[in-house]
Amino acid sequence: MDRFNCILNDTEYIYYIKRNKKFEKDRKFCKHNLKHFLDVARIAQLINLEESLGFNKEIIYTTAILHDIGKSLQYENGTPHEIASWEISKEILHNYRYNEEEIEIIKQGILGHRDKKSENFAQLMYRADKLSRLCISCKSIDECNWGDEKKNFKIYY
Ligand SMILES: [Fe+2]
Repeated sequence: MDRFNCILNDTEYIYYIKRNKKFEKDRKFCKHNLKHFLDVARIAQLINLEESLGFNKEIIYTTAILHDIGKSLQYENGTPHEIASWEISKEILHNYRYNEEEIEIIKQGILGHRDKKSENFAQLMYRADKLSRLCISCKSIDECNWGDEKKNFKIYY
């Protein structure tokens, strides 16, 4: 988990975490902060173990902390945040010596995390992302633009 922890302490990474926080200061819906990222990481790893999917823990955690890192750019200029997140992530991943095979898996996870029909690793990220949300206790649920198929009313992990 050394490379994963290097990213958590990386200057550019922290810059984008703060940027998300700034853009979501008054947001009443789900936030895209480190708490969300780690919720997704832990849920994805639980599913990974429970279903014997065989994905590497560091790759899961790395993808989870990067999957929404570009959310502020979606607020700022409309870039879909999975694309913005991947653009930011690829440079960071090379800096910490993730190899090409690992980078390809992480790329699929980031780019596919919003797609219900995504497969393999991206499907794991999609599931963990949705399961991490506490729609059951959300005060803004009536104004949320997520369809009922995306909202999470049950706790499994
Ligand atoms: Fe996202």
